[in-house]
Amino acid sequence: MTDSELIARYDTRVPRYTSYPTAPYFTKAVTSETYAAWLVDIGTDAALSLYIHVPFCDRLCLYCGCNTSVVRQERPRRDYAQLLSLEINMLADRLGRRAELSHVHWGGGTPTCLPNDCLTGIMDLIRRRFNVRGDAEVAIEIDPTSFTADKADALILMGVNRASLGVQDFDEKVQSAIGRMQSYEETKVCADMLRAAGIHAINLDLIYGLPHQSEASVVRTAHQALELQAGRIAVFGYAHVPWMKRHQALIPQDALPDTPARFAQMQAIAQVLEKQGGYVPVGLDHYAKPDDAMAVALHEKSLHRSFQGYTTDEAPILLGVGASSIGSLPQGYVQNATSVPAYAAAINAGNFATVRGVALTADDRLRRAVIEKIMCDLQVDLIAAAFAQALDPAPLLAAARGLNSLRHDGLVIWDGRKLTVTERGRPFVRNVAALFDAYLKVDEAAPKYAKAV
Ligand SMILES: C[S@@+](CC[C@H](N)C(=O)[O-])C[C@H]1O[C@@H](n2cnc3c(N)ncnc32)[C@H](O)[C@@H]1O
Ligand code: SF4
Repeated sequence: MTDSELIARYDTRVPRYTSYPTAPYFTKAVTSETYAAWLVDIGTDAALSLYIHVPFCDRLCLYCGCNTSVVRQERPRRDYAQLLSLEINMLADRLGRRAELSHVHWGGGTPTCLPNDCLTGIMDLIRRRFNVRGDAEVAIEIDPTSFTADKADALILMGVNRASLGVQDFDEKVQSAIGRMQSYEETKVCADMLRAAGIHAINLDLIYGLPHQSEASVVRTAHQALELQAGRIAVFGYAHVPWMKRHQALIPQDALPDTPARFAQMQAIAQVLEKQGGYVPVGLDHYAKPDDAMAVALHEKSLHRSFQGYTTDEAPILLGVGASSIGSLPQGYVQNATSVPAYAAAINAGNFATVRGVALTADDRLRRAVIEKIMCDLQVDLIAAAFAQALDPAPLLAAARGLNSLRHDGLVIWDGRKLTVTERGRPFVRNVAALFDAYLKVDEAAPKYAKAV
């Protein structure tokens, strides 16, 4: 079967499975009271992780699908930092102990938008209220065009030891169509500044499927990315969802590559990163140097999937802080109000800002474990997965009947208990995972997700 035939068959709208159940199935049945009760009942001494969301940027890139907006004044940035501190104190109070933290991730938007004293102040507060492990990863997302030497100093004071740099594409024609001018040189200056400050773990984000991109242009960008010597490179397919992100309507539609072109671009980038850069492919969209912790976790089958995508974080609990952030607890998922005013109103009133979520059933937990294994390891033993949770494997084996066409097309190997996604199947790993999603109904999936390729 040719690539075009595979694409025609499998390019449906499927979730990225950064959670299971996925966010569209969160409901208002989970409230701030539910969350407060769950926090008290966590009942484990296991390490936790924190995700802190800062929904501000200096500029709005036309392709952006993140929850952010342009806020340039210092006052609202400081006010927001104050809310983050309040929420962190509320969490620590509710947990009732100085819980151990193994990962702290600052995402956005552009978290470095916060004034330096706010960034360091919040990190100090976290260290006072939580026991941040000596080997904890403290990671932050950075827009290289707004990064300055004083920010690098602040990151050191915060104890940041991993930084993700947004690149997307180095081609000027592409950059002008997506409203994000960023030269290779300023990206390199940013990476050099971080390394000089002692932050050696550097990630890059690239995107294919953007206007005016071609196989040749993404290959040029991939080669430039190699020169930056990042430990990890994420390669995302552009998610064009103008009905949700209205600024994306300003992207020139007629310059967007079609699905076969997107597929070819994705493969062309993979070829450069793997063959010339020596990177190891990780799951759906990541590449890691063989000595990077992510490649090691892949090898040891300890890789996980969270709202930030692939992670080496093994903590069973992720607490979300800030507007729109999502938390994952043993009992279920919780999401904060998306808008800053709604988030502020709840926090200022002394309540958690939870507006939706989902409580996990035993069936959800089993399917979540199976889907995570498929997305991370490209492999799962369905019987072992069910037995590990003392559950009947029958529903999984029933779902596995749907593997027939994928198997016939060479995308999976299935021996009656173990399924393995082949290299040819890697771009379609979400379609494999979707077979085990009890919520997803193909007919209702259409508007919620971007296409698989
Ligand atoms: C929060 S942003 C990164 C940090 C920083 N604000 C920046 O832009 O450099 C996270 C990443 O999400 C990716 N991203 C944003 N919008 C996207 C979209 N519509 N489709 C695919 N990837 C997207 C980009 O690769 C971006 O670097
Ligand atoms: S891509 Fe980054 S800098 Fe651009 S709008 Fe989105 S979050 Fe902000």
